[in-house]
Amino acid sequence: GVDSLMRIPPSVLKQHKTRDDAWSAFNGKVYNITAYLPFHPGGEKELMRVAGRDGTKLFASTHAWVNVEFMLDSCLVGFLVSEPSSS
Ligand code: HEM
Repeated sequence: GVDSLMRIPPSVLKQHKTRDDAWSAFNGKVYNITAYLPFHPGGEKELMRVAGRDGTKLFASTHAWVNVEFMLDSCLVGFLVSEPSSS
């Protein structure tokens, strides 16, 4: 449920950028894309370009018609939030 979802700032997202542990953000939602990598019709290499970062723009420029929210619903990790201030 929504209670188990995390609030994820960019610095945490960045820590998940490898083939074995890849997260990416689309439209404010962070997904674990690791399991989907071998199934991506555009190839793993293309998808890995957004590992560890916000892929919203790249996604929109390649296939805005694909419903990522529906496709990756079971891979949802949490929500992208801004970096907590250090003060
Ligand atoms: C193709 C899903 C991220 C590049 C596709 C297709 C799907 C898909 C369903 C087939 C679309 C069609 O034939 O109409 C996804 C999902 C993504 C994702 C769920 C997010 C997790 C990305 C990103 C890029 C990318 C970030 C670029 C860096 C491509 C390309 C194709 C493609 C170039 C065309 C492949 C071809 O037809 O030869 N993707 N994609 N995708 N995707 Fe993605």
